[in-house]
Amino acid sequence: MTICVPDDIMQRVARYGQQHLLQFADRLTEAERAELFEQIRATDFSVLLSDPSLQTAEAGARAARAEAPRDVVRQPRTASERKLREAAAAAGCRLLEQGQVAVVTVAGGQGTRLGFDHPKGMFPIGPRSDRSLFRIFAEQIAARQQRHGAAIPWYVMTSRATHDETVAFFRQHDFFGLDSTDVFFFQQGVLPAVDAATGRVLMDSRSSICLSPDGHGGMVAALERSDALRRMARQGIEHVFYHQVDNPAVVVCDPVLLGLHAERDSQLTTCVVRKTDPSERMGVLVSVDGRTEIIEYSELTADQAAATDESGEWIFWAGNTAIHVFRRDFLDDLASDASRLPLHQARKKVSWIDSDGQRVEPTEPNAVKFERFIFDALPLADRTLIVEADREREFHPVKNAHGSDSPEQVRAALIRIAKDWIRQAGYEVADDAIAEISPLIALDAEELKQKLDTGQITLNDLTMV
Ligand code: UD1
Repeated sequence: MTICVPDDIMQRVARYGQQHLLQFADRLTEAERAELFEQIRATDFSVLLSDPSLQTAEAGARAARAEAPRDVVRQPRTASERKLREAAAAAGCRLLEQGQVAVVTVAGGQGTRLGFDHPKGMFPIGPRSDRSLFRIFAEQIAARQQRHGAAIPWYVMTSRATHDETVAFFRQHDFFGLDSTDVFFFQQGVLPAVDAATGRVLMDSRSSICLSPDGHGGMVAALERSDALRRMARQGIEHVFYHQVDNPAVVVCDPVLLGLHAERDSQLTTCVVRKTDPSERMGVLVSVDGRTEIIEYSELTADQAAATDESGEWIFWAGNTAIHVFRRDFLDDLASDASRLPLHQARKKVSWIDSDGQRVEPTEPNAVKFERFIFDALPLADRTLIVEADREREFHPVKNAHGSDSPEQVRAALIRIAKDWIRQAGYEVADDAIAEISPLIALDAEELKQKLDTGQITLNDLTMV
């Protein structure tokens, strides 16, 4: 049977040398063919032009020139440094009171390393309550809205793999008490996966291409595509608090971070913690040729990662928590040409359909996937700021099923934080007690003390043995 392939499709596949995508076209139903053509039209094949060897060479050269980061506000050690943070917190609270702050949570990843078969935000992490990650963030946002008397719009980035289940989860839980009109879901884009040996785009079925999420850097184009940036402008949003879905200890809309960011007129502020070990799998904040950027852990050799300066301090000490604050107008600027964020390539195992239409399940990495990273926006900003956080309080991501960054370790950390607040409030708590404090009860140790002292809550509400 001869079929009619539209001219634009013929030209597109020819321009990128991907004619094999049409190899089954004459054996498809009308509907399947329409689906295939639509995918070919929607896929960004220009990523196939990026050269991996250039990327690796460039990353190595950047790492060799990198110095410890500049413009860092370190954890306070003196009374005047503490005063500076208090003033910043007051400034941050004003931004929240004026309704100038929105939250973006990137939740497009699938939690494969965690071995959890749902969107990661659904993972139950509350040590007593099994509260999900999404609920913890939602309760923080609700408590902040209440405290500051203004709405905090929440933008949740999903992917093809996580969108439907995420939205259903929010609905099922009645948006965790938030006004549903304050929650906006937007979906990140996809990029084609390519056979590493031939450079040909892999097919997932006779009528579809292997596609994978375009990385958290896809957020910029997705915010633009979904009209979220214009929506934020209409809502009076000037600053966007960004965080990853995996860290239940994040202080969502931390007034100190927001305040420092605004006081220094930073376009992009990043929160860092001191790495505990040079081999830790964290990106590091560095200064290269006077500009702030992040070098990913996978781009540093073990020797580079452990390098020290004259005083013996690690050069690459500043671990990326993936908590950032963006000025909204800087996001607008990035969105005017989202392709300025470079592409990163990774070798992965991708199952595909061969030219006989048979499914192939590779045992070794066979494909190249493309991603953009949001932190590559740092060197594109003229004014950046780095703020060191209290690691024990603010950074406990759930990444792996066992060992470091496992649910067990993260729950233990959340219990430690809760007990520390109870003790700071002047109350005793047994060493083996399991404590958990809902953000709706208290956002910090001071609020907890006030509620315990006035009898609004009792210790029994927070602990069990
Ligand atoms: C990431 C950072 C690392 C940082 C660490 C802190 C990268 C490349 N590295 O590492 O510098 O020190 O977190 O915990 O990000 N996501 C999407 N869409 C995607 C891909 C990821 O929304 O297409 C989201 C995930 O849902 C998750 C976050 O991005 O919230 C992080 O992704 P992940 O791949 O787990 O990053 P890490 O390697 O842990």
